Amino acid sequence: MKHFSKIISILLTIIIIGTVLTGCSGKSNETSTQAPVQTDTQNETTSPSEASGSEQNESDAAEDHKILVVYFSYTGHLDSMAHWIADETGGDIVRVTAKEAYPDDYDETVDRAKKERDDNARPEITADLTEEKLAEYDTVFFGFPVWWYDLPMPMWTFLESYDFSGKTIIPFISHEGTSNGGSAFQNMKELAPDAEIRSDDYLSIRGGRVDSSEQDVRSWVSGLGYSK
Ligand SMILES: Cc1cc2nc3c(=O)[nH]c(=O)nc-3n(C[C@H](O)[C@H](O)[C@H](O)COP(=O)(O)O)c2cc1C
Repeated sequence: MKHFSKIISILLTIIIIGTVLTGCSGKSNETSTQAPVQTDTQNETTSPSEASGSEQNESDAAEDHKILVVYFSYTGHLDSMAHWIADETGGDIVRVTAKEAYPDDYDETVDRAKKERDDNARPEITADLTEEKLAEYDTVFFGFPVWWYDLPMPMWTFLESYDFSGKTIIPFISHEGTSNGGSAFQNMKELAPDAEIRSDDYLSIRGGRVDSSEQDVRSWVSGLGYSK
């Protein structure tokens, strides 16, 4: 009988240990399912600038700034980039268009843009932005597709139409090979001489990659310290 109760107690111990171990392995499965989520969260927190001290500075920087995102887009890449930037910064957004719309036909647009560049033309533009409204902003994210190794001419018109003195202008571009913007940044400096053009910090994304680049765009904004 004594022997029998010893066997029972050993069996009970085995059952209890088994239950505990099964419980643990269940938990560890849970943990591994959650791991990617935790990793993502960690990346979000650390990717802007690795140190918690600068995180504080970044949110201070974002709060201290009044941000406008201005862009021109023909086939839509800059439209996507501009909206991600506006969302990431909490800034306002304004689209610049040519009063006389560019043709739907791509080749015709390429020809017209070439002529405008050669003629040093200033196409008339529309932009929902008054001079008084622009005065409220200190930082302008400025987006355009590279056209003929340069700014599209409507953006020359835009830069000449407003007073950018004292503002910080941060370029973001899309291209199909002219990844450094060609002459665009130099021309921006001449068109807005009293602004600080942050041409060393620009974002450049090849047209075909834009659709899958939302995170890159947000990380760029965040790395500059402008996330809301
Ligand atoms: C008129 C025109 C001229 C262009 N010139 C250039 C160029 O000189 N270099 C370049 O890399 N891409 C050039 N591209 C390609 C655009 O920069 C690229 O497709 C960009 O992603 C378009 O942005 P969007 O969709 O916002 O218009 C040109 C496109 C057009 C329509």
